[in-house]
Amino acid sequence: MHAALLQFAPIRGDKESNFRKIKKLCGSTQLDLLVLPELATTGYLFGSKEELALLAEAFPGGQTSEFLTELAGTIGGHVVCGVAEKEGEILYNSAVLFSPQGHLGTYRKVHLFDKEKELFEPGNVGFPVFDLGEAKIGMMVCFDWIFPESARSLALAGAEIICHPANLVLPYCPRAALTRAIENHVFYLLSDRIGAEQSRGEELSFIGQSRILGTKGEILASLGEEEALITAEIDPSLAGDKYVTSCNHLFHDRRPDCYRLG
Ligand code: ACM
Repeated sequence: MHAALLQFAPIRGDKESNFRKIKKLCGSTQLDLLVLPELATTGYLFGSKEELALLAEAFPGGQTSEFLTELAGTIGGHVVCGVAEKEGEILYNSAVLFSPQGHLGTYRKVHLFDKEKELFEPGNVGFPVFDLGEAKIGMMVCFDWIFPESARSLALAGAEIICHPANLVLPYCPRAALTRAIENHVFYLLSDRIGAEQSRGEELSFIGQSRILGTKGEILASLGEEEALITAEIDPSLAGDKYVTSCNHLFHDRRPDCYRLG
């Protein structure tokens, strides 16, 4: 399976320009799965709900759904993209899954980061897993990484590939991602952004460091702070092997009776 992610610096509030940038960087590359960053089409640092609501969309149904359907058609595969989702008056920081036929599913960020809590509602759809035929995939968004329960929930539900759109500001997620891949034996696509945004006297710099990881934490492809599309050939069936030694299985050896997760 030809898996890829795209790292770039979205321009806040300028969807058309972000669509153009994504299209240009993908070109006519044929891919089975492409993961884009968190809030890839809108930018991140919004000063108010009103400002964000002007850009948020229902999925499916808006111009971003149209763009992602067309992009999936161009690459000939599936696309995962971080988006600002609007359901009625409620805003979610979501990741959406598209095929060339259109919208297949939505994940809504469960663990909101910092001032996101003033803009978005926490996700209410759990951690769904989608069977694409060639692989079972799950999505989580940025700060979900610091809660190992996110990746574990996806792995226990059968995800072979974790798609992780991000806008990272803390430096240690790329290291933690290795652990998430290893402790669940899953492929892991961390698609981060670069650049900086300012709003109302606040500035955030995004760290890049996107990577594609194998089921033992192998770095199959990685980026620093450059704008680029990176790809890796992966065999999702390898994620079905949860044995660490011939006597140790990542899931069968779990001891929920001993855990106090409350
Ligand atoms: C983040 O969750 N965007 C840091």
